[in-house]
Amino acid sequence: MEILLDTANLEQIKKYTELYDITGVTSNPTIISREKAEFWPLLLEVRKIIGDRQLHVQVTADTWEEMIKEGECIREKLGKDTYIKVPTTEQGICAMKHLKAEGANVTATAVYTTQQAMMASSAGADYVAPYFNRMNNLNVDSKKVIGDMANLFKIHDKKTKILAASFKNTEQVMDALMVGAQAVTVSVDLLTTMVENAIIDFAVEGFKKDWIKTYGDKKIYEL
Ligand code: E4P
Repeated sequence: MEILLDTANLEQIKKYTELYDITGVTSNPTIISREKAEFWPLLLEVRKIIGDRQLHVQVTADTWEEMIKEGECIREKLGKDTYIKVPTTEQGICAMKHLKAEGANVTATAVYTTQQAMMASSAGADYVAPYFNRMNNLNVDSKKVIGDMANLFKIHDKKTKILAASFKNTEQVMDALMVGAQAVTVSVDLLTTMVENAIIDFAVEGFKKDWIKTYGDKKIYEL
């Protein structure tokens, strides 16, 4: 099970790669423009912070030839642990095929259907990124679609992993994992919510009070 951070915010990346077991960072043109920073210095700083963790960066071009050029440039600047995110369109599938032939890591993005996942996997994509909440907004059963993708890859012995994306609540994240997504990319807000609950704080406070009654403020290593 892999958890990635869906952000290009340097402070968030620093903090949460330190706190949690994070496989990598995903971005898209919207996420990057939110930072209002120069493109390469921002991504080079992300790379510096995350070391050899995965960094998924999306191409912006319309044609497969230009997507390949962008992908090559991204790889050259950001290193081998970088994944080229390519929209799963006709042009994108062609770019994926060529990028894979060059040895690049590829993430097929903007995935809404099982048939897109099938096409991306056939082109050699390492990950497909189905958009959970955006599918829900179209009245599509995201759980079923992701479950179908997982079955399809299993039946046909495909190595492509499912990196579910576009979440608006933690239930969606858990649902994606429960139906077979191997990875999820999540905003820092949602990740924090996973372990934020008054009932957890209540339990921890209870243990603390009882400890203090007997041992004061001594830590275990001081006893
Ligand atoms: C991954 O990086 C996707 O691009 C992202 O999760 C999409 O999220 P959104 O639907 O909230 O824009």
